[in-house]
Amino acid sequence: MSLLHLRGVSREVVLPDGNLLHILTGVDLDVDAGEHVSIVGRSGSGKSTLLNLLGLLDSPTGGEYLLDGEPTDRLRARRRSRLRGEAFGFVFQQFNLLPRRSAVENVAAPLLYARGKAYYQRRRSALEMLDRVGLSARAESTPEKLSGGEQQRVAIARALVRRPQVVLADEPTGALDVETGAAVMALLEQVTTETGAALVTITHDLNVAALAGRRHRLDSGRLSPLDGAGGNAELSALTASRPAGGIS
Ligand SMILES: Nc1ncnc2c1ncn2[C@@H]1O[C@H](COP(=O)(O)OP(=O)(O)OP(=O)(O)O)[C@@H](O)[C@H]1O
Ligand SMILES: [Mg+2]
Repeated sequence: MSLLHLRGVSREVVLPDGNLLHILTGVDLDVDAGEHVSIVGRSGSGKSTLLNLLGLLDSPTGGEYLLDGEPTDRLRARRRSRLRGEAFGFVFQQFNLLPRRSAVENVAAPLLYARGKAYYQRRRSALEMLDRVGLSARAESTPEKLSGGEQQRVAIARALVRRPQVVLADEPTGALDVETGAAVMALLEQVTTETGAALVTITHDLNVAALAGRRHRLDSGRLSPLDGAGGNAELSALTASRPAGGIS
């Protein structure tokens, strides 16, 4: 059984006019421990909705989602929020760092909720993670003093500080220039490989998607694999036809 296992997952919302909006339909997805998977899709195709479901920030309205073999629809609220904090690390397009707090404080923030960790241990873990992303020299700098790429590296350190089983990245390069984005993705791939975390990257950038071991495409809420000969050809055709690499 995979670490993340989705079968026939759907997410529907009732719109104010009473109509039903099908955001995700019949999504099947398996992610093994340590595996790197990317999901590419246009704006509005349901990428963030899917990532939020994976990270237990939202729940499916249909189908099943098993986390490490455990049906997530049966989780009680407390265990659900504990799992969310312990099993998952999140990286967002807009970094979402705490303003006016130093890089090391930002990285240590998720550890506030860990039990039994003394202040110096938390700080040491945070510094170790900052070192892994090559930012130990900027540990005392606030986000305001850091470049976009540096801020995203802090966010990556923060996502990994609790040693999650899965890192979920929603458009991690979306706010960065092409070169910085490529460097940040390479780092994200490297540190998740080192820590053994699975990595699910959501992107509209086909070049970013191409880095993952396994690729999927989300189209109007339907997920399909982009692998095998046909998928690879499709991916390179799409990449070649769009020099900027985007499909939105
Ligand atoms: N709670 C909600 N209520 C109504 N509509 C929603 C809700 N959440 C998402 N949607 C709609 O579902 C669709 C998918 O949204 P989602 O944010 O998952 O897209 P996305 O692929 O992440 O897009 P982007 O690339 O622009 O971030 C959009 O049309 C959005 O407006
Ligand atoms: Mg989105």
